[in-house]
Amino acid sequence: MRSYIDFNDGWVFHEGFAGALTTETAPGKSVRLPHTAVELPFSYFDERSYQHQFTYQKTFHAEPSWAGREVTLLFDGAMANSTVYLNGVEIAAHKDGYTPFGARLTGRLRSGVNLVTVVIDGSENPDIPPFGGRIDYLTYAGIYREASLRITAPIWIGHPKIETPDVLARSKTVTVRAEINNLEGKPLSGTLTAAIKDRNGKPVGSVASEIDGKSISLTLSGLDGIELWDIDNPALYTLEMQLETPSGSDWVACPFGFRQVEFTTEGFKLNGKPLKLRGLNRHQSFPYVGYALGRAAQERDADILKHELHLNIVRTSHYPQSKYFLDRCDQIGLLVFEEIPGWQHIGGDAWKAEAVENVRRMVRRDWNHPSIVIWGVRINESQDDHDFYVETNRVAHEMDNTRPTGGVRYITESEMLEDVYTMNDFILGNEELGGNRPRTPLRPQQEVTGLDRIVPYMITEYGGHMYPTKSNDHEQRQAEHVLRHLQVLNAAYGDPQIAGCIGWCAFDYNTHKDFGSGDRICHHGVSDMFREPKFAAYAYASQCEPSEEVILKPVTFWARGERNIGGTLPLMILTNCDEIELRYGSYPGKRIGPDREAFPHLPHPPVVIDRKHFSKDELGLWGMEWLDATIIGYVDGKPAAEVKFVADPIPARLEVIADTDSIGASDPVRVMVRALDQAGNKLPFFPEPVSIAVSGAARLLGPELVPLRAGSTGFWIEATGRGPIGIKVTNDRLGTTAIELTAA
Ligand code: GAL
Repeated sequence: MRSYIDFNDGWVFHEGFAGALTTETAPGKSVRLPHTAVELPFSYFDERSYQHQFTYQKTFHAEPSWAGREVTLLFDGAMANSTVYLNGVEIAAHKDGYTPFGARLTGRLRSGVNLVTVVIDGSENPDIPPFGGRIDYLTYAGIYREASLRITAPIWIGHPKIETPDVLARSKTVTVRAEINNLEGKPLSGTLTAAIKDRNGKPVGSVASEIDGKSISLTLSGLDGIELWDIDNPALYTLEMQLETPSGSDWVACPFGFRQVEFTTEGFKLNGKPLKLRGLNRHQSFPYVGYALGRAAQERDADILKHELHLNIVRTSHYPQSKYFLDRCDQIGLLVFEEIPGWQHIGGDAWKAEAVENVRRMVRRDWNHPSIVIWGVRINESQDDHDFYVETNRVAHEMDNTRPTGGVRYITESEMLEDVYTMNDFILGNEELGGNRPRTPLRPQQEVTGLDRIVPYMITEYGGHMYPTKSNDHEQRQAEHVLRHLQVLNAAYGDPQIAGCIGWCAFDYNTHKDFGSGDRICHHGVSDMFREPKFAAYAYASQCEPSEEVILKPVTFWARGERNIGGTLPLMILTNCDEIELRYGSYPGKRIGPDREAFPHLPHPPVVIDRKHFSKDELGLWGMEWLDATIIGYVDGKPAAEVKFVADPIPARLEVIADTDSIGASDPVRVMVRALDQAGNKLPFFPEPVSIAVSGAARLLGPELVPLRAGSTGFWIEATGRGPIGIKVTNDRLGTTAIELTAA
């Protein structure tokens, strides 16, 4: 039977590369995968520090039980230009930094110790995407995803493609196409069985067939009682395939779902029902360690997008992301727009050939994810290039005709070769450049496409560089940041021809000097780099139904003098409550409903408290004194949420919260630190240092002494063994808060 062996431990890491490292071990730094070649400061660093070669070595013994079996070393992703050597012989090379690759060890292993050497090159090789121009993100060097050894029988099952052609019929069908790999050329005969199980492991159907060639197609029909995969009920099934041949047995299991997606001229439909897509773009980067965080952090990001920001779609800008992230999207019902690596620049013929290959690699790796609803087959925001994009579209359709293609552009009247016109519409804010156009959230579709007909259409970016906003920026700037996201959401909800909108972006990210605020950060997120929400995060979160979560987020730090001139009006409250009550000091409370006039299309417009809600006398008083306030949100006439503000905030408590209590190996977990006032609100302007001490079976990633930014900071800890972990976070004024976790 097939087995996988974890291959993440015991690597030795070297700066640079020398030929001798392919044949002999040399002393270096012991590391574990995922690994970043260079740990970076939070900001203001030189991104060239990782733009050169690095070498990883690992020794291992070939097990006697591997004799006569197929042995492959698999890498989920390494940045970039990887070359793999076994005992001095080059056995694999893979240029792309975002897709998996394998190195076949069969027949090449020797008895005793074997040496694997992987050379990577973090320089921005202009011969491959996304390089050759300037890009607004970093491509951190390292073997930054996991590695494993796959041991199979000499005849084994390739990655199957599972299709569900008649999802909306009462009785359903599954077709499976699988490759039968037989690199040793053994006599080919045997039986392949495909069985489907539901999420409780209950059998749903099975079929068996004799194998007689390199590829085999199986059909399971008449499947009854199937649950559709949906965003509210992401029902997953598992396809299990068993191969029996005279050379042995093989087995694979693959999750999939029954769902149908359509982008129409009247918007997006999931399983035949209209769904307005509401999303954000995600970069897969984290502070200090760049791309190199494992499963827990990848899954956590998906959870944040789905359950905290309450999105229904994410775009993996601008490359294929971790399998753990995508698996999680399948499990929790978060739709995905996945795209090939690239940013504005198109290179020469070899470069384009590599981009076409990236389409193949992406589609092949991910074709069974029910969460993925569209393939992005253009280089993000590139110019038209007819032949190139005819080819990327052709390849995507040929490999997977169950999903549409999109191609993200910002140019208008771009040639529509894809199924969906996917547009980065940065028109909001353009009025600041002069011109006659008044403030406009989104342009009409036909002005953008220049076509004489309506086509399937989706907004894939807005916001971002048009209004960079830091989490400790002035309250009024943050209110404007919120407003812009709300106005685009409102416009997208109001236009049935728009499938949805995906804003720029979920999380702040480190970037090149050519972009961002000079600090090597694009402060474009609705959350900061630690995934701590800014106010704008609640523009999205508040669009969910109160049955999912009651959201009540006043866009204020509640301070007398933070805003120009003073006070807090107009005060926007991001909420899905039916109405709110403002209680200011001991004045009679005021009930105010959502502003449906300004935001007629939003599922849940914000409440906007303005001068018009106060009498002249009250306004005078409002300005003269500064008091505590309570805001209560009502759902169905009952109080459902409450926020209290104090007029005299003082530092009261240092909150330390880990994402989980239990940490797995190679799987760093985030810990958030917040300085809170006596009402439990963050102190936005408390930029004091906190020191972090980690003891027991874990180590801290990143520095031990960090400032609070907008009242919070975060860090990740990585298990170094098993047992208890102690974390102590100390601030001079707030003392120490300690928590305990376990490395399991
Ligand atoms: C877009 C680009 C994104 C990001 C964004 C900033 O043009 O596609 O990657 O740079 O601008 O707003």
